[in-house]
Amino acid sequence: MTQENKYFIEAENAAEMARLLKLDRLLTKAMGGTLPELAQEELANLHDVLDIACGPGGWAVELANTYRSLRVTGVDASEIMIRYANGFAETSGRSNAHFKRMNALSLPFIFSDQSFDLINARLIVGFMQTTFWPHLLKECQRILRPGGILRLTECEGGIVGVTNSVGCEILNRAGVLALHRAGQCLTPNDAQLGNTAVLPSLLRQTGYQSVRHVAHAIDWSTNAPWHNACCQNALIGFQLLKPFLLKHQAITEQAFQQAYQRMERELQTEDFCGMWYFVTVSGTNPPQ
Ligand SMILES: C[S@@+](CC[C@H](N)C(=O)[O-])C[C@H]1O[C@@H](n2cnc3c(N)ncnc32)[C@H](O)[C@@H]1O
Repeated sequence: MTQENKYFIEAENAAEMARLLKLDRLLTKAMGGTLPELAQEELANLHDVLDIACGPGGWAVELANTYRSLRVTGVDASEIMIRYANGFAETSGRSNAHFKRMNALSLPFIFSDQSFDLINARLIVGFMQTTFWPHLLKECQRILRPGGILRLTECEGGIVGVTNSVGCEILNRAGVLALHRAGQCLTPNDAQLGNTAVLPSLLRQTGYQSVRHVAHAIDWSTNAPWHNACCQNALIGFQLLKPFLLKHQAITEQAFQQAYQRMERELQTEDFCGMWYFVTVSGTNPPQ
C-alpha cells in the first residue's frame, strides 16, 4: 500500500534542512532531552530504536550519543536529509546511528517483525494523510517487539503555536486551513491542527496499551530564551510553506506578503508574545 506523498515543504531543499537542524536542537533541548518522559527501567529495556521521518538526524544522533549501547536507525523520504544524517553520525563518531531512505507512506516498511524496542516520530503532520494514520500505527506494531513503545510528538494550536502578532496569526490560520484542506488533520474543526487531541484514542483503538501523554510549551516571547530561534523558524518556515498555502487557496499571494511583512515587524517588538505547544503521546505494544 502506497499513498501519494504531499509533504508540505519541498524536502530536497537545503534551506529546509538547515531549518530542521536548528528546530531539532531547539525542540530536543526545550523538551528536556531525547526521551525525557521515560523511566530508568524503560530506558534499560531499549536496544533498537527507529526514528521515522528523522530529517537531518539531529534527534537520532543525540540519542545515539546519550545512550551509546543503543542501535539507532533513522528513516526519511528525503535524499539530502539522509545523506546529511549519515555524514553527521560519522563525523560525530556515532557508529551506532544509521540512516536509510524510506517512504513512511509505503507499506510494508523495509524492517522485519519485532525489530525495535522504541519507535519515535516527531512532527509528521506535514505528510501524514488522515486515512493513513491507522495503517502507520498498525505497521509500527508489527515492527515493534512485544512491550515496545511508540512515541509520537506533534504541535498544537497554529503552525507556530499561539501568538499576539496579527501577521503571524494570519499565517498560522492559513497553515492550519491548508493542512485541513489537504486532509492531514484528524479533527473536523479547522480552527486548530487538532491531531494531539485524537492521537491517544487512535493508539488505544489500534491496541496500544498504557497510553500516556506529556505536554510541552515553549515560550518564544521577546526576551524569552527561545525567542530568536523560534522567530527564525517562523520567518523561514512560512516562506517555505508558501507554495502549499497558495496551492490550497488558504491565502492569496498579496495577503501572504502583507501578513509576512507585518509578522516581521511584530516579532521584533518589545511586547511580542508567543507560546508553542507540543504533546508527546506514547503507547506500549502489548506483550504476546
Ligand atoms: C517537520 S520534519 C521533522 C523532522 C524530525 N522528525 C524532527 O522532528 O526534527 C518532517 C520530515 O518528514 C520527511 N518526510 C516527508 N515525507 C515523508 C515520507 N513520506 N516518509 C518519510 N519521511 C517523510 C521530510 O523529509 C522531513 O525531514
